[in-house]
Amino acid sequence: MNHLLEISQLTPTQIERLLTRAHAFKQGETPKNLSSHYLANLFYENSTRTRASFTVAATRFNIPVFNLDLASSSESKGEVIYDTVNNLAAMGMDLFVIRHLQEGIQQALAKQCKDIHIINAGDGTHAHPSQALLDFMTILEHKPNPGKIKIALIGNLRHSRVANSLQWIAKKMGVRELALVAPKLWQPETVHFGEFTESLAEGLSDADVVICLRVQRERLLDSDRLDLTTFRHQYALTQESLRLAKPDAIILHPGPVNRGIEIDNEVADGLQSVILQQVKNGVFMRMAIIEQLVS
Ligand code: CP
Repeated sequence: MNHLLEISQLTPTQIERLLTRAHAFKQGETPKNLSSHYLANLFYENSTRTRASFTVAATRFNIPVFNLDLASSSESKGEVIYDTVNNLAAMGMDLFVIRHLQEGIQQALAKQCKDIHIINAGDGTHAHPSQALLDFMTILEHKPNPGKIKIALIGNLRHSRVANSLQWIAKKMGVRELALVAPKLWQPETVHFGEFTESLAEGLSDADVVICLRVQRERLLDSDRLDLTTFRHQYALTQESLRLAKPDAIILHPGPVNRGIEIDNEVADGLQSVILQQVKNGVFMRMAIIEQLVS
């Protein structure tokens, strides 16, 4: 594995390997010293979890981390990202964690730039592979047999890179059923895996895993805007709507959480929530990703 660009490009064996290594790190395996490498965080969109998680993961290997400050970088003077990456690579940086609004930019850089490893930390509405991997790790800790589970994925699917990557990992890892629950306006044109329903009750029925997506208000065009009160009434995860899923269903959310919009406090902080476990697992999964890329 030379880059991590999207789940669709991984084999089930590669995914299994990452899950195994992430689990080993969680069990306390001592990370190797990889201090000859250098990780650069290039975030052209805001982030709390992904950037911090890759930073913590790199630090566990003694890998130094550079965070590009966009406001003070030379991109404000017209430099293009290709030159930014190549200049940082010339200084010895070799692991590039990149989040960008432009879909496919990490793929293009992976083709153009030599001798570096690129990790897609989110490109527009297209893909967020490390999120899907840490989500799947968390799911398996509670529901170890993917062939027997139903996952309900709820919310703004049209604008969600998390939803795209989750569809791919569910497909590759043999999930029995994936319900894609969204109002018509927020259903994407392309589906990789799963069945759409506009009915929250139908989607949640018999669900073992419930994944609630953020309403990406910053990505909504005027034509995509739904009345949030109506959305909340029909699709929010509340204590009442959660009763439609199996009693032992687990609740995931990639974050950041819009409390009181797509999910209520009582559900986000409730006994069935594994949201902070996702965040914890994120560090171990990103350690596994870094290890695989430099091996
Ligand atoms: N889940 C996720 O990508 O969170 P951040 O936007 O905080 O990185």
